[in-house]
Amino acid sequence: MSRSLPLLGAGLVAGCLLATGAPAQDADPGAIVDALFKAGGNQPKVRASGAKGVCVKGTFTPTPEAKALSKAPHFAKAVPVTARFSMGGSNPKVSDKAKPVTRGFAMRLSDPAGDMVFVVISAPVFSTRTPQQLLEFATVRAPGPDGKPDAEKIKAFAAANPETTRQAAWLNARPVPASYAGVDYWGVHAYTLTDAKGAATVVKLRWAAAAGQLGLSEEELKAKPDSFYADELKERLSKGPASFDLVAVLAEKDDPTNDPTVQWPEEGRKTVKLGTVAITAPEPDATCDAATFDPVADLPEGVAGPADDPMFAIRSPAYAVSLSRRTN
Ligand code: HEM
Repeated sequence: MSRSLPLLGAGLVAGCLLATGAPAQDADPGAIVDALFKAGGNQPKVRASGAKGVCVKGTFTPTPEAKALSKAPHFAKAVPVTARFSMGGSNPKVSDKAKPVTRGFAMRLSDPAGDMVFVVISAPVFSTRTPQQLLEFATVRAPGPDGKPDAEKIKAFAAANPETTRQAAWLNARPVPASYAGVDYWGVHAYTLTDAKGAATVVKLRWAAAAGQLGLSEEELKAKPDSFYADELKERLSKGPASFDLVAVLAEKDDPTNDPTVQWPEEGRKTVKLGTVAITAPEPDATCDAATFDPVADLPEGVAGPADDPMFAIRSPAYAVSLSRRTN
């Protein structure tokens, strides 16, 4: 079960994070969630991001190498998985054909000792480096009276914050995925895996689609309706599991752990396969909607997020605000 945080005031949040050695927040999580909602047209009872999506279930089976790197119980035996694929943003009517929009993959690996949650996207980088930057990134995307955001404001923000253009550039250089199961997903943050003896390994995580990168040509894209991912996945799962290999890319000296807008070079890097997530069947929406997938609070001993990345720490209180808004 999720251990979602209760709603916290900004001051208390900053205090909590300082107590754990993480950086102080430079923006209020509630203000960021408000801005995320506004950018998607302020729809009621939806997520502030990943508003359109499908709930599924499956199994995670670890490799022996995973157990050697981390003492998390989820790396010692096969465990059940509840997961949700989604489209980025707070608009539940966004087209599955939209570009440049990340596809999301939230997953809860369950164990009686506690959950292991990852919430990851179909790009190796996040759009912003700091919470304040995310607040501004979302604010300039709010639709005006004509229903459209101000293109000049977006252009000026991008020029002043060039690192915020990397994600869109990456997505624009690739085709729109034909399936939620036909694209790789990345953790974007640096994680530390700790083994039973206390030895630590810093990694970034990638979920490599067994189906490969299934991109749509421009012609195929035109022929698709605005919603096809849910049916495509149902059909795919009726024939067998949709699998992803969980791959750890090991850090090298000078790889930054505090900036999710930077992709570590993968060329020539040591990688370790930690296991396979096999998605086997659809699950009722209610299973995924009752709680939030909290990628910060729901990590076991043996897996830790980066203490120096402010984008990581703020996800927990922001997801709690969104959960509270959509369930009350
Ligand atoms: C930095 C890397 C991040 C990634 C990869 C990411 C990805 C995602 C994904 C895939 C979802 C959909 C989850 C679901 O299906 O339930 C989501 C939800 C959400 N994200 Fe993020 N996100 C990131 C950072 C942030 C940050 C920094 C904030 C705000 C400060 C934020 C705010 C939210 C909120 C409010 C939700 C809705 C949660 C809910 O209502 O359950 N995200 N995110």
